[in-house]
Amino acid sequence: MFNVILFGAPGSGKGTQSQKIVEKFQLKHISTGDLLRSEIATGTALGKEAKQFMDNGVLVPDVVVIGMIGKLIENNKEAKGFLFDGFPRTVAQAEALDKLLKLSDAEIDVVIALEVSEEELVTRLLGRGKTSGRSDDADETIIRSRIEEYRKKTEAVADYYKKFNKVKSIEGEGSVDEIFEKLSAIVEQYI
Ligand code: AP5
Repeated sequence: MFNVILFGAPGSGKGTQSQKIVEKFQLKHISTGDLLRSEIATGTALGKEAKQFMDNGVLVPDVVVIGMIGKLIENNKEAKGFLFDGFPRTVAQAEALDKLLKLSDAEIDVVIALEVSEEELVTRLLGRGKTSGRSDDADETIIRSRIEEYRKKTEAVADYYKKFNKVKSIEGEGSVDEIFEKLSAIVEQYI
């Protein structure tokens, strides 16, 4: 089993690149943002709880997110591997993920970090906000709060995996295809 985390700030291109990577390498895509938006769309209790946090650009509590991931890993034991997109976002989530994977005798093989400047992140998200209908893209203050959450709580996740020598960083600015080529080259070293 091959497991990769696509890591980066909001708007760094994780979702865009994940689609292409899972298709090319036949991995199971796990995006906590997509899972939470689907819970909101179907009006579940979990979705209602998550919405208050997401609309304000802050992280949903660890216990909610870890519970969702646990079920997904358990239900997809036959997968060739997982691509985690937007998860883990705190050190507590990273530690929980390591434990969950260990139950299947698996681990995170590599964390690929997309490096994008803050001004480019804001430009991309404001641009998407014009058409996406995502409430957290509509307002620059909320976009900046998401980036602040990333700096305060999520960057430490990269430090956590650096201790195990698992982090590879790449330039996340340039064309989608150029970035995809760099990502693919890293994944191919492991698969
Ligand atoms: P989530 O859905 O994960 O969103 P995010 O990380 O804030 O970032 P995005 O999905 O907006 O960006 P991305 O890096 O995927 O970039 P994308 O490819 O979309 O999280 C939303 C919220 O859910 C969080 O704020 C939190 O509240 C909650 N949440 C989710 N996971 C959680 C967790 N684990 N724990 C707690 N809470 C959690 O691209 C962005 C834009 O840029 C697009 O318009 C795209 O077309 C464009 N673009 C992409 N690549 C390029 C390029 N190379 N050049 C130019 N434009 C590009």
